Amino acid sequence: MEDKKLIFSGIQPTGTFTLGNYIGAVRNWKPLQEEYNCIYCVVDMHAITVRQDPVKLRQNTLNSYALLMACGIDTEKSILFIQSHVKTHAELSWILGCNTQFGELSRMTQFKDKSQRHADDVNSGLFTYPVLMASDILAYNADLVPVGVDQKQHLELARNIAQRFNQRYGDFFKLPEPYISEIGAKVMSLQDPTKKMSKSDENPNAVILILDDKDTIIRKFKRAVTDSDTEVCYREGKDGINNLMTIYASVTGKSFAEIESEFSGKGYGDFKLAVGEAVADHLAPVRSEFARLSADKAYLKKCYTQGAEKALRYSQRIVSKVYRKVGFVDRT
Ligand code: TYM
Repeated sequence: MEDKKLIFSGIQPTGTFTLGNYIGAVRNWKPLQEEYNCIYCVVDMHAITVRQDPVKLRQNTLNSYALLMACGIDTEKSILFIQSHVKTHAELSWILGCNTQFGELSRMTQFKDKSQRHADDVNSGLFTYPVLMASDILAYNADLVPVGVDQKQHLELARNIAQRFNQRYGDFFKLPEPYISEIGAKVMSLQDPTKKMSKSDENPNAVILILDDKDTIIRKFKRAVTDSDTEVCYREGKDGINNLMTIYASVTGKSFAEIESEFSGKGYGDFKLAVGEAVADHLAPVRSEFARLSADKAYLKKCYTQGAEKALRYSQRIVSKVYRKVGFVDRT
């Protein structure tokens, strides 16, 4: 790999990503490939921290892989792989877990949320999830991690773990920096714009899936919750409109001022329709590319096998050094 800064990021295999995943993270991964060495991963090991149907998990993982390619991740330029194919993540996770405090993990807001939502299965994997995430990043000594705002706390923990390891065993890990886009880092639910758009939302109208067809996308935007005002403008307290403006700005590249003048004197109905059409048009190529790629199982397999080989080779060098640093005996 050329001597450029290294990017690492991952996404859970929910099969089809939400517009939040797309705008907050995945769409930024594509242009980053031009400037950086990029390593991207479908994190199936993270997914089993909540109960999964094995048949669906396998299918969703393959679909997520194809979907990342459809979103422009180029397996010639970047390393794209499936987490469970690369054993170094789990190996490093044990060592980093021994350098992470119970108290630190207890403070993770995502753990608190998820353990409430899955109260009948608060397993230890759910608790140590952020350690595996730190391992994903540190196994490659990544410089930058492009994520949405909701992952910021996990990333800060990864930095703290790296720092603690460096203090105990001598400088080794880089401290990974979050890379969070200015606009769209937190896309909100269409039905409750004070809440993050999330795949786990029970109301399907709250969430745009990037493989939704055009009619569905427009219908969901038409039903989006806004306010009793009529003016399309970005202001405090107008959470629904602010969210729609953010989404529209992300897919059209227009500024908020441009959007405000485009819709001045027009009602929310016109604006919602325009947002729906812009999003559907923007996502149309992703849908068709996904259909093409997911039909070609042999090609996908070749890509993920090669991706895993490259990721293993890269991370093995780093994890072997970690083994030595903590005092494990060389096997050979
Ligand atoms: P996950 O799968 O929940 O989400 C993938 C990415 O999408 C972003 N995101 C959002 N951005 C804006 N608005 C939203 N409504 C929204 N919803 C999700 C997330 O911030 C994320 O960037 N733990 C991670 C996956 C992971 C990872 C890693 C990420 C595992 N190992 C190492 C970076 C580096 C997760 O569950 O993301």
